[in-house]
Amino acid sequence: MKELIDKLYSETALTRAEYIKLIKEHSEDDAQYLFSLSVKRREEYYGKDVYVRGLIEFTNYCKNDCYYCGIRRSNKNTERYRLTKDDIMSCCEQGYDLGFRTFVLQGGEDPYFTDERICDIVSAIKTNYPDCAVTLSIGEKEHDSYKAYFDAGADRYLLRHETADNSHYSRLHPADMSPRHRKQCLYDLKSIGYQVGCGFMVGSPFQTAENLADDMLFIKELSPQMVGIGPFISQHDTPFSEMASGTMEQTLFMLGLIRLTIPNVLLPSTTALGTIHPLGREKGILAGANVIMPNLSPVSVRKKYLLYDNKICTGDEAAECKKCLQMRMKSIGYNVVTSRGDCKPK
Ligand code: SAM
Ligand code: FES
Repeated sequence: MKELIDKLYSETALTRAEYIKLIKEHSEDDAQYLFSLSVKRREEYYGKDVYVRGLIEFTNYCKNDCYYCGIRRSNKNTERYRLTKDDIMSCCEQGYDLGFRTFVLQGGEDPYFTDERICDIVSAIKTNYPDCAVTLSIGEKEHDSYKAYFDAGADRYLLRHETADNSHYSRLHPADMSPRHRKQCLYDLKSIGYQVGCGFMVGSPFQTAENLADDMLFIKELSPQMVGIGPFISQHDTPFSEMASGTMEQTLFMLGLIRLTIPNVLLPSTTALGTIHPLGREKGILAGANVIMPNLSPVSVRKKYLLYDNKICTGDEAAECKKCLQMRMKSIGYNVVTSRGDCKPK
């Protein structure tokens, strides 16, 4: 198994069969070996720096009905909210003072936020904070909408592909959602000039090692600047409430593989990882991740953006979250830095 890890470390592409073998058959020793190399690779590009993004969850209305997601349309037990433009601007003001230089606007696919409204918000943030990057994560749109947001100043876009396998995709989503369209969105975003992030949940229902290998091949082909992965965690009001959640071990292993597959990638150690294990985010960094995304949303709405059960950090003010993460990173020898944190060139 170590030969395959060495092969990946030497930046030689793995075949599908090789990824499958690694994912299925690795031992705990192999995982430790992978992390020793993924951390080394990450430090060649980013040293001990950890980039922070201020996450603003600005709407939990969604027209989609993804089977795994707590804010899906059919969940009648979620109390819906939308932040106003003023609310969003005050999150940014607070975030800027705390040293955030990237704001991530994430939400469900909410028709209230027309292209015009999104462009207005993006350009207001860019006017007030020209030294900051704006990342959007608002789902699938058409090419011209993405272009309009880009022209308004958006720099980055996160759209997890969720799974590269079409039949697996159809077991996670209703029939009106198309995996081809989702992938097309990622290629559109890239061609417009965004820094793009794809990604998937580890341990999502029905996922196989073959699916994960296909995810790796898709990532290699798309060659995004960012990849967002975290464990699937069941949510009690969804059709997948009884499904087993993903594990920390497997998520860490996939983080290590992604770091070696795209050496300079921006790779978050996610809140979901911190939710399934108290030291999940620290361990994510020690497996090759280099980004953390503390929440800047007002505390009053945090508990309403419950994609999955037991989500952490829903009661703490942004300043406390930032301090807590700074301490956590320091405890493993890493530093949270104040910068836009763009992807380093290869
Ligand atoms: N609507 C946008 C979109 O579709 O990209 C952004 C919001 S969506 C809630 C963000 C991500 O949350 C999804 O891409 C999905 O991977 C993740 N997510 C949703 N439900 C989850 C769950 N139960 N466990 C872990 N992650 C989940
Ligand atoms: Fe739309 Fe989850 S179903 S954000």
